[in-house]
Amino acid sequence: MHILRTPQELSRSVDTCRANGQSVAMVPTMGALHQGHASLFKIAHEHADVVVATIFVNPLQFNNSADFEKYPLQMDHDVQLLEEQGVHYLYAPTVDTMYDSGFSTSVSIDGITDLLEGASRPGHFSGVATVVTKLFSAGRPDVAVFGQKDFQQFAVIQRLVADLDMPIRLIMAPTIREEDGLAMSSRNVRLSRSARQEAVAISQGLLAAQDQFALGSRESKRLVESVVSVLAPTSAEIDYVKLVDAKTLQDATTASKGSVIVVAVVLDDVRLIDNLVLE
Ligand code: PAJ
Repeated sequence: MHILRTPQELSRSVDTCRANGQSVAMVPTMGALHQGHASLFKIAHEHADVVVATIFVNPLQFNNSADFEKYPLQMDHDVQLLEEQGVHYLYAPTVDTMYDSGFSTSVSIDGITDLLEGASRPGHFSGVATVVTKLFSAGRPDVAVFGQKDFQQFAVIQRLVADLDMPIRLIMAPTIREEDGLAMSSRNVRLSRSARQEAVAISQGLLAAQDQFALGSRESKRLVESVVSVLAPTSAEIDYVKLVDAKTLQDATTASKGSVIVVAVVLDDVRLIDNLVLE
């Protein structure tokens, strides 16, 4: 695997691949890679000849500086995982390379970024959109893979790519879970033992709602209540549990196939999100 440190190195490498007739898939990450990320590289290989991973802990998207400082860094482990996954290029710039002292551009997307995660984390999606725009403009991938785990992030990036006429095909990869159902996340390592045990209630709540839906419940109130009732006995502080439209992410009053239940809780000072697309 080649490790690239500057946007120029990334552009040059991608240009060489293109000149050789190879298509390119990009998988943006913030590192601390786990099996959820690994699944994205597998999917990327199915859609392009060359796979580019990016690792950059993006300060712009952390509205809480303590969260940024506590973000796990494990470059050696990450490089090993990327090698195992057959990733061809790793783009891992420093903060100074990404944002020089005069940096003053920000990409902001209206509407969809004001809801849910955007409401609780002001500026977060503008930070995501800005860094993803930079990654896409230096790497110009044919395909980019993102996880369903961050459902709203995917919707925001879809909007970005459509609005700015970026010729990039986006692929949403399913959420990979621990054996007990907890969605894998780089933040899970920060949970205390007891919080880690309680965290299973998030996915169990979502499954309870899926069961209700399968039994015929369509009312948002009822489906949300089935998630909340599983979370209630735990110490999880609920930020939101909502039934939303998959495209607009606006509240839905009635569920149909494809509606999404989104959840965000804070457990032990760690913010955890998950979602389920109703089937
Ligand atoms: P990060 O949290 O590192 O996630 C990188 C990618 O992995 C995202 O597309 C995310 O949805 C996906 N992912 C995380 N956990 C997953 C899981 N359990 N199963 C499947 N996919 C999972 O998301 C970001 O980084 C950043 O916001 C980024 C897009 C890189 C911009 O900085």
